[in-house]
Amino acid sequence: MKGIILAGGSGTRLAPLTAVVSKQLLPVYNKPMVHFPLATLMLAGTREILIISTPRDIGGFKILLGDGRRLGLKISYAVQSSPRGIAEALIIGEKFIGGGNCWLILGDNIFFGHGLSQELEAAKLENAGATVFGYSVSDPQRYGVLAFDDKGAPKSIEEKPAKPLSNYAVTGLYLYDSRASEFARKLKPSARGELEITSLNNTYLSKGELKARKLGRGYAWLDTGTYDSLLEAANFIQAIEKRQGLQVACVEEIAYRMGFISRRQFAGLSREMAATPQGPYLKSVLEEQ
Ligand code: TTP
Repeated sequence: MKGIILAGGSGTRLAPLTAVVSKQLLPVYNKPMVHFPLATLMLAGTREILIISTPRDIGGFKILLGDGRRLGLKISYAVQSSPRGIAEALIIGEKFIGGGNCWLILGDNIFFGHGLSQELEAAKLENAGATVFGYSVSDPQRYGVLAFDDKGAPKSIEEKPAKPLSNYAVTGLYLYDSRASEFARKLKPSARGELEITSLNNTYLSKGELKARKLGRGYAWLDTGTYDSLLEAANFIQAIEKRQGLQVACVEEIAYRMGFISRRQFAGLSREMAATPQGPYLKSVLEEQ
């Protein structure tokens, strides 16, 4: 299944950090932010990826990730000329999607937790329509909020409600069937002038074709759009990596473990990066029994 990383936007809340650099290229501890959503798609088994960013920033992503071949991926690029909303990604990516099912992930969303790969695999198997992932947060008012019926099926999604019906925020990872682009084209811009992803999800909901999977407390879902959340995400990644001696979102390691590249290719990457701080880690992965 293909996947889109939406990595545009204006990053206003991080100004002046974003005055010359895309938010999604800023560091989260030891990696550019976009490595995290990229790692999530790779863990979902996705090898064909479209990165959408602004006319100013798209070049930076191309320098960072190229055509993706070194990771066993096929990465292509498209521009969103202005931030007209998250749902526009499905319109920009229509040709890339090519009539199949597709993941969409926001470039500033970090997912971490044991069994993530299996969770994404299960979502793929179950998907018909659209799937969103709910995560319990302390401040649901800031997000699209899911409400569930007695059977645990999604009943409503409200965008930034004053009185949330649950603590479950809709995260920035979505799975759509082949109709998503068509439905997105029919959306009208909201009061803030955007094609809202909540409106697209509500289109599926109104047809009874929206699934919502809860990511339990064993997962971390972090967004990185403010000074504090960016620093907290970096501290979180640092704490996990230092404690475990294992890396989070090391895309070379994931490419190897997922079988996207051979052992020989991985050994090549390990040599290529030998002089960087990541070098010893890749070597240890290569040498593990
Ligand atoms: P937001 O965090 O809502 O917006 P932003 O990144 O522009 O930041 P700010 O609110 O500080 O101005 O966007 C969530 C993600 O979606 C982020 O990765 C940027 C991306 N995005 C686009 O690429 N295009 C868009 O039109 C919108 C609305 C968001």
